[in-house]
Amino acid sequence: MQSGLVIRGLTAGLDTKRIIDGLDLEVPDGEVHALMGPNGHGKSTLANILMGNPGYTVESGEAYLDGENLLDMEVWERARKGLFLAFQYPAEIPGVTVSKFLKRIADLRREPPKNTAAFLAELKEHFAMLDIDPALANRYLNDGFSGGEKKRMEILQMLTVQPRFAIFDETDSGLDVDALKVVAEGINHMRRPGFSALVITHYRRLLDLVKPDGVHILEKGRIVASGGFELAELLEREGYEGIRRVVADQKTREAAYEN
Ligand SMILES: Nc1ncnc2c1ncn2[C@@H]1O[C@H](COP(=O)(O)OP(=O)(O)OP(=O)(O)O)[C@@H](O)[C@H]1O
Ligand SMILES: [Mg+2]
Repeated sequence: MQSGLVIRGLTAGLDTKRIIDGLDLEVPDGEVHALMGPNGHGKSTLANILMGNPGYTVESGEAYLDGENLLDMEVWERARKGLFLAFQYPAEIPGVTVSKFLKRIADLRREPPKNTAAFLAELKEHFAMLDIDPALANRYLNDGFSGGEKKRMEILQMLTVQPRFAIFDETDSGLDVDALKVVAEGINHMRRPGFSALVITHYRRLLDLVKPDGVHILEKGRIVASGGFELAELLEREGYEGIRRVVADQKTREAAYEN
């Protein structure tokens, strides 16, 4: 099977409510794809299900990362395989400092763990690259952080973990223009074979800087359109009505071709 993320016919949600409904999606190795869609249609739920959040139930379907079935894995196994989620609403962890937390997540994927001096040197580099105030390293994670600081912290965590597959859930929301550039640089810095990402976003601003290899539109729990950057442009120009029109036109053409 191809390397990267392959989701087929995923149907899942809460015990009382189906949220993801027959979803197909592929993100090949080395590519960064965007996932867009109206509020409340299942983007964050999909991210949570891929990460193994126990609050959701999978009814049917498959999800593979580099040919390995994610849905059979425990949450920690998925993390060890290099699945990483930058949350839409990052949690505050009082009592755990930023540097201690980063050392823990860095060691999760590195055998043997990096020695502390090497870790701190790398951390210093990342702080400079992301333009984060070094004083944050000794504060409790996200405790009292501004919205933008929390989002930069998510990027810092990604650089520390060096994930195989990263999901960014609206990491661009609430960012000033400079912070948006920092987030894009962080993602672009990771771009190489052996890294793929899914960027969940409502706007093309971040995509202008990240230049995704593919764009997918999620509506009512399934992917209704996949294409290139032009989909994000169409969405900005004409909203989801524009997307629906293009999808309907395409279906009409396909039906005419078949008849
Ligand atoms: N734990 C939960 N309990 C109750 N409802 C839930 C839960 N998780 C998801 N939902 C519902 O499932 C639907 C999809 O939510 P989800 O957060 O995935 O949307 P989204 O596409 O990420 O939206 P947004 O763009 O606003 O972030 C919503 O109606 C939401 O209220
Ligand atoms: Mg969401």
